[in-house]
Amino acid sequence: MDDRRGKFISFEGGDGVGKTTQINLACRHVKKLGFRPVVTREPGGTMLSEKIRDLVLESSAEVTPVTEVLMMFAARAQHTSEVIEPNLAAGKWVLCDRFTDASYAYQGGGRGLPDELIGVLAEIATNGLEPDLTLLLDLDVEEGVRRSHLRDSPLDRFESEAIEFKNRIRTAYLRRQDHHSTRIVLVDASRSIQEIEIEIAKQISDLQARPDG
Ligand code: TMP
Repeated sequence: MDDRRGKFISFEGGDGVGKTTQINLACRHVKKLGFRPVVTREPGGTMLSEKIRDLVLESSAEVTPVTEVLMMFAARAQHTSEVIEPNLAAGKWVLCDRFTDASYAYQGGGRGLPDELIGVLAEIATNGLEPDLTLLLDLDVEEGVRRSHLRDSPLDRFESEAIEFKNRIRTAYLRRQDHHSTRIVLVDASRSIQEIEIEIAKQISDLQARPDG
C-alpha cells in the first residue's frame, strides 16, 4: 500500500468526443510518471454496475428521468465504494470515463431534472466525492454524432436521442465547467488526437506537481 492517496481524474463530454482514446493515452502518461493507474467507467466498473449499465443504456421501454437518475446513482454508489475509494486509498490513480458531472449534464441539462436533486443524490451515493481533475472534451454536437455513427456498435439509448437533447448536454457541461473552472479543464476535442493527448498529459503532470500532490 502506498502512504499517499492516489488522484482521481474523470473524463467527460458528449458522445463521440473521443474519450476512450484519450483515457488510454492518459493511462500511459500516468504510468510514465511512476503511478499505478486504474481505468474504469460509469455507468459500470463493477459487476452490479455493469448490469445496471446494460439495463439503462439498452432498455427499449420508456425510462422516466427519475428512474434514469436513480439507476445512474445506484451504479455510482457501488462503483465508488467497491472500486474508486479503495484504489485511491491504496495510492492508485483512478481514471474514470464519466462521473457525477455526467449526471448534471445528461439527467440535469438533458432531461431537465433540478441540480439540487442531483446534488442530494451525489451526497448519498458518493459522500460528495469529487475528482481532483476533470477533463471536459468539448466538440461540436453534429461532429460528435458523425463520429458516433462511424463506430461499428449500434447506437445506445442516449446516442439515439435528438440533436436538441445533445445540445442541452453540451450547454450543461460548459456551464458546469464555468462554475468549477479550477477542477474542470475545457479541452478542445476538434483537434488531432496527438494535440489533445499533449494537452491532457500536461494537465496530469500539473496535477502531480501540485503542492498537495
Ligand atoms: P459512454 O458511452 O460514455 O460509456 O456513456 C454511457 C452513456 O450514459 C452516455 O450516453 C452518457 C450516459 N450517462 C448518463 O446519462 N448519466 C451518467 O451519470 C453517466 C455516467 C452516463
